Amino acid sequence: MSEATDTLNGFEAEQASTPRVVVLISGSGSNLQALIDAQSYDELGGEIVAVISNKADAYGLKRARDAGIEAVALPHREYDSREAFDGALIKVIERHEPDLVVLAGFMRILTPRFVQRFYGRMLNIHPSLLPAYQGLHTHARALADGVSEHGVSVHFVSEELDGGPVVVQAAVDVTSEDTEDSLQQKVQSREHLIYPIAVRWFLEGRLTLGARGPTLDGTPLPPQGLRLSHADAAEELDEDLEDDA
Ligand code: GRF
Repeated sequence: MSEATDTLNGFEAEQASTPRVVVLISGSGSNLQALIDAQSYDELGGEIVAVISNKADAYGLKRARDAGIEAVALPHREYDSREAFDGALIKVIERHEPDLVVLAGFMRILTPRFVQRFYGRMLNIHPSLLPAYQGLHTHARALADGVSEHGVSVHFVSEELDGGPVVVQAAVDVTSEDTEDSLQQKVQSREHLIYPIAVRWFLEGRLTLGARGPTLDGTPLPPQGLRLSHADAAEELDEDLEDDA
């Protein structure tokens, strides 16, 4: 066997073992961008092989294209039923053979069939400290309740909307000056830190969902997942984020 062939075989073997990620979006895709950025720094633990949006004009599709990632628009309005759309979505996702499906602002209620298909290998990010504020308008509801702490959760997706096992959370303080916008910005800055970390844990095989719930490095996670402070996240990312704090 020639040296050139050896090298090529080695290259192909390495490519084949890179975990594959499909990201589903509906809008801006700032979390997608955080994942793309992590990948570009070799900190994602895998490769985003496709981004799929149920909205053709989602800005996140442009982010994907700009990063050289296949961007697919699959408008749900073109399907007669939720089941038909989810069936089509399953086909498009499976064509890309993902190890992990990442929901990043994908604003669709999923059918049980869809959830079962990817159970244990599908993550979502939700802008609240679950189980508080499942559903929509989380920042407005937190402000209306006068809570002093709010935040974000990454969880495995189950059939209960925003109710699957939580992996990791990050909290922010809520002050009397906060508005819905300011709170959203604070929470989103935490989203962009913790989502790439949770994805990497999964792709490196450290995070799994077993019969007894999620484990990290074999240790069961607490019911509300790990609480990641800004400093913890910086350490995970092996970066000095102090200037950014
Ligand atoms: C985020 O706030 C996320 O928590 C929620 O949807 C939003 C998506 O934002 N699930 P983006 O499209 O990633 O900017």
